[in-house]
Amino acid sequence: MDEDFSAIKNGLSVDIKRTDGRVHPAVVSGVNTQTRCVTVEWFEQGETKGKEIEIEAILAMNLHLATNLNNQNHIPNNQGYPLARYSTRASIPVISNKGSYRSNKIQSRPTTINSASVNGHAQLEAQSIPPTPTTPVATPAPRASMAPVINNVVANATALPTAAARKAASRQSNVVKEVEKLKKNREERRQRQAELKEEKEALMNIDPGNPNWEFLGMIRAYRANIDFRPLKETDSVEDHQITVCVRKRPLNKKENARKEVDVISVPSKDQMIVHEPRNKVDLTKYLENQHFRFDYAFDDTCSNEIVYKYSAKPLVQTIFEGGMATCFAYGQTGSGKTHTMGGDFNGKTQDCKKGIYAMAAKDVFKFLKSAQYKPLNLIVSASFFEIYSGKVFDLLSDKSKLRVLEDGNNVVQIVGLTEKVVDSVDEVLKLIQHGNVARTSGQTSANSNSSRSHAVFQILLRVPGMQRIHGKFSLIDLAGNERGADTSSANRQTRMEGAEINKSLLALKECIRALGRRGAHLPFRASKLTQVLRDSFIGDKSKTCMIAMISPGLSSCEHSLNTLRYADRVKELAASDPTEPRSGTNSSPEEEQAGRRQPVHTHIQSHNHSYEDSDLATLRSLNEGEISAEMMTFHEAVSQLQQLEDDVLDTHKTVQESHAIWRQKHTQLLTMTRDVDYDQDAYSKQLETLLAEQISALMQFREKNNELRLQLANEEQISQKMKSPLVSQRYGYN
Ligand SMILES: Nc1ncnc2c1ncn2[C@@H]1O[C@H](COP(=O)(O)OP(=O)(O)OP(=O)(O)O)[C@@H](O)[C@H]1O
Ligand SMILES: [Mg+2]
Repeated sequence: MDEDFSAIKNGLSVDIKRTDGRVHPAVVSGVNTQTRCVTVEWFEQGETKGKEIEIEAILAMNLHLATNLNNQNHIPNNQGYPLARYSTRASIPVISNKGSYRSNKIQSRPTTINSASVNGHAQLEAQSIPPTPTTPVATPAPRASMAPVINNVVANATALPTAAARKAASRQSNVVKEVEKLKKNREERRQRQAELKEEKEALMNIDPGNPNWEFLGMIRAYRANIDFRPLKETDSVEDHQITVCVRKRPLNKKENARKEVDVISVPSKDQMIVHEPRNKVDLTKYLENQHFRFDYAFDDTCSNEIVYKYSAKPLVQTIFEGGMATCFAYGQTGSGKTHTMGGDFNGKTQDCKKGIYAMAAKDVFKFLKSAQYKPLNLIVSASFFEIYSGKVFDLLSDKSKLRVLEDGNNVVQIVGLTEKVVDSVDEVLKLIQHGNVARTSGQTSANSNSSRSHAVFQILLRVPGMQRIHGKFSLIDLAGNERGADTSSANRQTRMEGAEINKSLLALKECIRALGRRGAHLPFRASKLTQVLRDSFIGDKSKTCMIAMISPGLSSCEHSLNTLRYADRVKELAASDPTEPRSGTNSSPEEEQAGRRQPVHTHIQSHNHSYEDSDLATLRSLNEGEISAEMMTFHEAVSQLQQLEDDVLDTHKTVQESHAIWRQKHTQLLTMTRDVDYDQDAYSKQLETLLAEQISALMQFREKNNELRLQLANEEQISQKMKSPLVSQRYGYN
């Protein structure tokens, strides 16, 4: 055997130098004396690599081997020996299971260990070499001469590598565990996302293209937890002096076409929920479910007949008993007030028979013919008028403008109002139709003006031969409540209409509340509507009913909430969450009565004296903190303006009539002068008197008109100063 190879055996750890200049330990795995090459292996980046290196290059890197040779009187010295000739063959990965220079015996790779123990300097390098795999690496049986080295290798291979390997293995297993954990989390997250995506797609597919599908999903989920128990036709009709109910209309064609989300739920016969869509600061969507309770809640499947049965029908008897009854349809424009009161629309034609006006009239005639009331021989008559911007128009007489007067006994009269005696339901229907046509005539759209006026249909019972009214049923289709917010419009007419609506709805609420509290002050003079209905809010026998109409769409949510808050203020009943178990579901009417929140009752009575000055001031004190001082000033300015306008118009009429008389007087005076010997003194005196009268009348007229002009400017100025339309908006609804 070549002497150069005598010290180089398989399994020996040697330093090798790589082509990139790196020096690191490797293990000899083969010796080829023919080619004078040594095959070495090392572990790098997760795999075993190997290469062939010329014996000289090995000896040049491992001088102690050469020394060994020298000691045995073998060659070479460092100077004369061509040492540094390296194989340029690139490193090749060792195929783990079938390498020619591999044995299955050795358990751990000795590379790093030998370098530490044999080379003495390889600790650092060893660490830079990747951890030893447990895969067996080739180590042929050692030759006798190499025994100590080999033993050393073997000893270290069994002892030292175990500690380091354990450390490395544990480091590896921690890393592996961490990676696996991350992988698991990632997979779970992906699965969750996929599920959510699936859910979202499913929801989106239920309502493809609905931009509010998230809210829709939330509302659906909420509804899934409600045990719906809607009003049944067999449910009993309760007797109340003040009945407040709510009616949800169905989504209409247009709303369905634009995929409006229905945000109103009617879980039971007396509850309504508004699912108000909200966004958190971080834009997360959520629902605010607001609960309201009333005497009755009608869902979108209820017909006018059902609504009538529980609202206006119980009041028919009231008027036969000598009382006053009122039924109000309240709500935003398009919410169904006219549909409920006047009847279903078929295109532009309204089926009057299906409205509450007609149903009430039908029952009036039924009662009239009943054994109980026939002996009274009552006469039935009807009138129909409209209140528009504080003015009254007769719908049964070409919409003629009427004056409202109050006599010394506080009896309010609408001067000249048409009151037609009716003998049958058909006659009533004709009157209703006539009035409806008059109400909407001259309008570009059916809802444009009607929603800005209150329509009052009255059925009166009179005792024959007596002026006195036995009973009166007033059915009122109120102006759209959102119109009350128009008080800051650039257009004066809109502003004044808005102010009047705002004021009348506030006054109406207080008058109804006062009806429920005997002896409470009735601020009826605050608006034309409450003024003409004054007698309906007094007396033990008077009863009233309000039907608050709700448009179910998401875009109407804010208005719906305002409507419900208003209705809630008219009669306050406590609401509960229907998705939560209800305590005391079977509470008695007395208990329910006790559960009602006590409003400002005591407060109002104790301050009775302070708001006698003006009913407007009363409204303000009753809605303390809700009507701003500037809104108050505005209302006062509008009231004054209306009074001055009435005054000027009255004076104008008088002046116009006087003109005819003055003309006649002038004619007489001139006729007088045709006589040759007419009395010039007398003529002159009479002319002077006539002119003085005329001048005085015209001066007064002019003064009034000046006042009106000043007030117009004043109102303009005040309205411009009003900053927040929201303020008026809120108050109109409260
Ligand atoms: N319960 C209902 N069922 C079916 N359609 C309804 C219902 N309520 C209202 N509608 C329809 O909705 C539309 C608006 O209703 P309506 O004219 O009665 O509203 P409104 O409250 O009187 O509005 P405005 O204040 O503008 O006069 C009408 O076409 C009407 O037919
Ligand atoms: Mg209407």
